[in-house]
Amino acid sequence: MSGIFISFEGIDKSGKSTQAKKLAGHLRARGHEVVLTYEPGDTELGQEIRRLVLENKSRGEIDATAELFLFSADRAQHVNELIRPSLDAGKVVISDRYVDSTLAYQGYGRGLNLDDLRMIQNVATGGLKPDITIWIDVDLQTVQKRELPLFSDRIESEDRGGEKTFFQRVRQGFKEAYQSEPNRIFRVDGTQSVDAVFKDVKKVFVNQISVRDLYKIDLKDWVLSTIEKVEKGIDWNCAWKETYFELGGKSRESGRKFSPMNGTEVLYRLGRIKGSRKPFRNPELKEIWNCSTNGAYAILALEYILEKPDISRSALWTRIQERIRSELGEEPAKFNQGAPTVAYKLWHLGLIMHDK
Ligand code: TYD
Repeated sequence: MSGIFISFEGIDKSGKSTQAKKLAGHLRARGHEVVLTYEPGDTELGQEIRRLVLENKSRGEIDATAELFLFSADRAQHVNELIRPSLDAGKVVISDRYVDSTLAYQGYGRGLNLDDLRMIQNVATGGLKPDITIWIDVDLQTVQKRELPLFSDRIESEDRGGEKTFFQRVRQGFKEAYQSEPNRIFRVDGTQSVDAVFKDVKKVFVNQISVRDLYKIDLKDWVLSTIEKVEKGIDWNCAWKETYFELGGKSRESGRKFSPMNGTEVLYRLGRIKGSRKPFRNPELKEIWNCSTNGAYAILALEYILEKPDISRSALWTRIQERIRSELGEEPAKFNQGAPTVAYKLWHLGLIMHDK
């Protein structure tokens, strides 16, 4: 699978559909092949399910568990008919809602058991998760001020006030999902203007995807096969370059891009990368700096990312520069996003050990 899968989440009228459309337009204008889709309903079967589950007809109550299976059936069809094939063809897939909607609406909103829900979602999607989920977060007051459409669907008409309303619970659901998966779900403040929200959406996208764009090959495979070779005794530089070309890397320039690679090597030598047999070490920043400035950038980047996963790349780089100046009295490079970006991406890929 080589495409990129992005989902947008949020409560009704959070403005996520507008943002999903804007991101699709933005990426298409830059030459990406984008499939913009939504749930429920973006397949033939899905249209039928959508009608069943959202039409505001008085057909009697829909049981919460039945509702769960309807959304999940729609999703299974959506994944197998559209999402997976598009990703396999290398496209960018942007879905307006995906599994987190079910957790938030059916789990937190309707109160269904969360473990059961996760298991059912796993079956429905075959375990397919988005690379990035952008959660457009708005509070209930802001939503209530937004103009109501003339007709609302069955679920949108859910809230009738009360202390802990349906939509407050749903919002809480998104919040908890975001807190438990900070390297997949990114929160964007949806109370800002459409343009300001979009600026933040682009920021998340660029921060998360840039490494893949930069090298055009899978960073995880690159790092893991490099480590395998190094552990067989090949020199890191040779292993890194060889792996790059083996994986189909074409740019002779990227093959020679040493700076972020050196940062990765240092992370490996410090035992920070999963899959390495090196013991975990925590040396002084000075020691790291002396052996590789990029290693120091990468290590500092990780410190900040762990603290604040959705930190922007520019804020990250500014902080790193400050630390180098204040702690080491050295002047950092003027512009070096490579090592911090690779550190960012390694963390996102679940390759970083940090629990010591
Ligand atoms: P839609 O009109 O697509 O809403 P929006 O414009 O907010 O995206 O309708 C989707 C509705 O279905 C919305 O109220 C959320 C709800 N829903 C669930 O309850 N569970 C789910 O798994 C999904 C995908 C949607």
